Amino acid sequence: MDKLLITGGRPLDGEIRVSGAKNSSLPILASTLLAETPSVIGNVPHLHDVTSLIELLGRMGVEVVIGDRMRVEINSSTIKDFTAPYELVKKMRASILVLGPLVARFGQAIVSLPGGCAIGSRPVDLHLRGLTAMGADIEVKNGYIHATTHGKRLKGCRFVFDVVTVTGTENLLMAATLAEGTTILENAAREPEIVDLAECLIAMGAQIEGAGTDKIVVRGVPALHGCVHEVIADRIETGTYLCAAAATGGRIRLRDARPDTLDAVLDKLVEAGASISTTADTIELDMKGNRPKAVSVRTAPYPAFPTDMQAQFCALNAVAEGTSTIIETVFENRFMHVLEMQRMGADFTIEGHTVVCRGVPKLSGAPVMATDLRASASLVIAALCADGDTLIDRIYHIDRGYECIEEKFLALGAQIRRVG
Ligand code: EPZ
Repeated sequence: MDKLLITGGRPLDGEIRVSGAKNSSLPILASTLLAETPSVIGNVPHLHDVTSLIELLGRMGVEVVIGDRMRVEINSSTIKDFTAPYELVKKMRASILVLGPLVARFGQAIVSLPGGCAIGSRPVDLHLRGLTAMGADIEVKNGYIHATTHGKRLKGCRFVFDVVTVTGTENLLMAATLAEGTTILENAAREPEIVDLAECLIAMGAQIEGAGTDKIVVRGVPALHGCVHEVIADRIETGTYLCAAAATGGRIRLRDARPDTLDAVLDKLVEAGASISTTADTIELDMKGNRPKAVSVRTAPYPAFPTDMQAQFCALNAVAEGTSTIIETVFENRFMHVLEMQRMGADFTIEGHTVVCRGVPKLSGAPVMATDLRASASLVIAALCADGDTLIDRIYHIDRGYECIEEKFLALGAQIRRVG
């Protein structure tokens, strides 16, 4: 099993390109199931999660051709199977995103329940309640969601989300595009990835207003056609590298970025003492060799501070000047990286959903274990801030969400290599 060996102690310094967003690519690739003619999706990152979804589409009989730089052409007219099996869904829980498109276009789907994961129970009850409200018949048995419309079209409705859910909003948004009549999604998620999905659906002929706000209005159309769409930059990958540069007192320039999707994170990095300058598609951060100042954060749905950046800021606060608190409000078990960083000398105390971080000047290298995608990234940052070597095990987690992570960190001057 691959491990990453990192020798810390040097500030990062360099320039890299930001890849396309994992959490945009997944719903957008699933949305091509709605279109009657082929689509071409560009700037798709080469990630395990993306190849898992492409494998699932292929298993359904969908034609997928991967071109250079991961331009993906998808033709769903050849589909012959409407099942997302457990062995694929357990690998990649966002496979649930095929449910809405399959029910909306083909009137049927058998999709494995994703089950929980390391960071929480991750229910999909709101996905199912929304589709039921649109007229689908849904039965959950033997670990599978069995959905059918009995040959009818879904019907538009007004649906209020009890909890803000990103993929829940995405599933119902996709389903609503082909429903009869108008759908109003209230308390919808506002993430940039939802706006990106909506723009792709509109390019397919969907009629959507309000994506990016908490109220999305969709007027159903009889059919959608294929489109050409470029996936937006990955804001969490961007934030991860910015956080690594800040934690090591270094400097970084990011190309092909979308600074407008990262306000809450950029504000916190400035509070930590970073000088930040941006253009429409670049971000430059410079710590001028200084140690970061401790910053307290509280995660919440977009546009607030993202839960997917919480672990990375734990690593920054571990070596920052001062004491801070990190409060996780979205997921119930997203502090596993804290235990691993404590083994590297971090002075943390977990009190329920809060971590109290007392910064220390340096961490010390140690063998550690990745537990989930963003925790793995935070351990890389901690390792870069540690004296000596850190060996991170189970880095298959990291390959799910970070394209070419060694190459990018090597380009920033890090001492990092993959070992068997
Ligand atoms: C998306 O997950 C992201 N994944 C996650 O990124 C991200 O952490 C999360 O949104 C929050 O921003 C993708 O976009 C593929 P949720 P999602 O539904 O949609 C509760 C990463 O690291 N909930 O927004 O699965 C749920 O328990 C990943 O890239 C229900 O109660 O998360 C949670 O407390 C990790 N019922 C809250 O909503 C439901 O039906 C937010 O979950 C659905 C969700």
